Amino acid sequence: PAPGWSISADVVVVGSGVAGLTVALRCEAAGLKTVVVTKARLDEGSTRWAQGGIAAALGEGDTPEQHLDDTLVAGAGLCDEEAVRILVTEGPDAVRRLISTGAQFDTDDEGGIQLTREGGHHRRRIAHAGGDATGAEISRALVEAVRARGLRTIENALVLDLLNDADGRAAGVTLHVMGEGQHDGVGAVHAPAVVLATGGMGQVFSATTNPSVSTGDGVALALRAGAEVSDLEFVQFHPTVLFLGPDAEGQQPLVSEAVRGEGAHLVDADGVRFMVGQHELAELAPRDIVAKGIMRRMQEQDAEHMYLDARHFGAEMWEHRFPTILAACRAHGIDPVTEPIPVAPAAHYASGGVRTDSHGRTTVRGLYACGEVACTGVHGANRLASNSLLEGLVYAERIATDIAAGRTEHGFPARVPETVASSEEPAHPLLAPEDRFTIQRIMTDGAGVLRSAESLQKAADRLQWLHADARDCLDRNGKTSEPGVDTWETTNLLCMARVLVAAALLREETRGCHWREDHPRRDDTTWRRHIVVRLNPDRS
Ligand code: SIN
Repeated sequence: PAPGWSISADVVVVGSGVAGLTVALRCEAAGLKTVVVTKARLDEGSTRWAQGGIAAALGEGDTPEQHLDDTLVAGAGLCDEEAVRILVTEGPDAVRRLISTGAQFDTDDEGGIQLTREGGHHRRRIAHAGGDATGAEISRALVEAVRARGLRTIENALVLDLLNDADGRAAGVTLHVMGEGQHDGVGAVHAPAVVLATGGMGQVFSATTNPSVSTGDGVALALRAGAEVSDLEFVQFHPTVLFLGPDAEGQQPLVSEAVRGEGAHLVDADGVRFMVGQHELAELAPRDIVAKGIMRRMQEQDAEHMYLDARHFGAEMWEHRFPTILAACRAHGIDPVTEPIPVAPAAHYASGGVRTDSHGRTTVRGLYACGEVACTGVHGANRLASNSLLEGLVYAERIATDIAAGRTEHGFPARVPETVASSEEPAHPLLAPEDRFTIQRIMTDGAGVLRSAESLQKAADRLQWLHADARDCLDRNGKTSEPGVDTWETTNLLCMARVLVAAALLREETRGCHWREDHPRRDDTTWRRHIVVRLNPDRS
């Protein structure tokens, strides 16, 4: 639809989590006219749900080199080492700057930052706030800073598409806005620099730790705009999500890895610690290994979930250190002080996303991506716990520096990409809102923790059928669903789900969080490479 209103800026930032607000604050500080647009309220994205914390080599005896080693091991051979080196060396100062911006982390008796452990980390290096409410504190601090500095923000603004200039450079975005007065309806923000910081896509699965706004809008926009997307098959399933029944749908309560970091045990229905002996770090092995260990034991015992036992923490520690998790468990009738917590894996984090170089530049000039929507190369096949808030911070600062310096030519590291030449059309007719649940069910059944050629092909066929049905309806009746946030979100979910399934089908091996039952081994000869997808924007 044609925009009914428009405004202009130097930079438009799409999204308001740690990545988006950090880019915006740094751009504004550099004197750039910056507008933040966000789909719901400023604090409604994934950042505020982050529990465990933010990883950085801040502790005595810890070094960026050790953090690098742990990140590379978790990434299972697919991390971009240079991108990781940037993350771990610039990370500690980025956290200190976040503290100067106003975020308050938990401190020890001497006033130093208190650090915990999580899966895959050989050291205590996770800073946390409010016990287990780290993301909420970071979000509070950044939102307050944005308001204090008077940055222009437009809330309830779903991003639709990228605008381009005559040379194909990014030139702004179109938006669908509801309930924001003068900016209601479809409008445009014109700007020569566009930063996607739209977060993840957990809502493509039935059960996820992600809030309902995580619908992959940024990846879908980037695909429609002809940008490259990489590593989409690597969806991380968090091992310990509160189990609320086999048919639970939507956002599920997370039980942070930090609970295991402080000594909780994973046990099966017989009370046996099944991770012991499977990995030198037992319950603190990297996340993919713990998720697989849980799934295997569930299959062996024909059980719907396993248990996390932290009764030995006692009431005081639970109340002081993990108040958010304690409250969530109690709200569902489980008291972790007196009983083990039922847990099972659920979709948590997209390790892949819009491909960027080390300055956050995508393959479309003037378009940047930052945070979960991006694929900087730091996560490889499996993100190390608590590296995501750090990635959002570090790369946000690099993007702001790049924009302020007026550089936009991308400089991609020498990876070995596999480009999937896709003949798919990036534009879909708008889907009905209820199709969201169909997509989620298809993806959970066919492209969840356990995958095979058969399950993935079935998912691909069912997604193709949904697409064809909407297309037929448009062709026959000249009609599609009414434009609105829910129809666009559902349409974005379908676009992204199809690309994710295509990549997962192609990768015939098991690596990191991509687990193929029919190809159970890692294949470094063929698959130490990335699957990069680009759709042809001319077909939209
Ligand atoms: C958690 O607290 O377990 C989540 C940390 C993360 O996803 O990095």
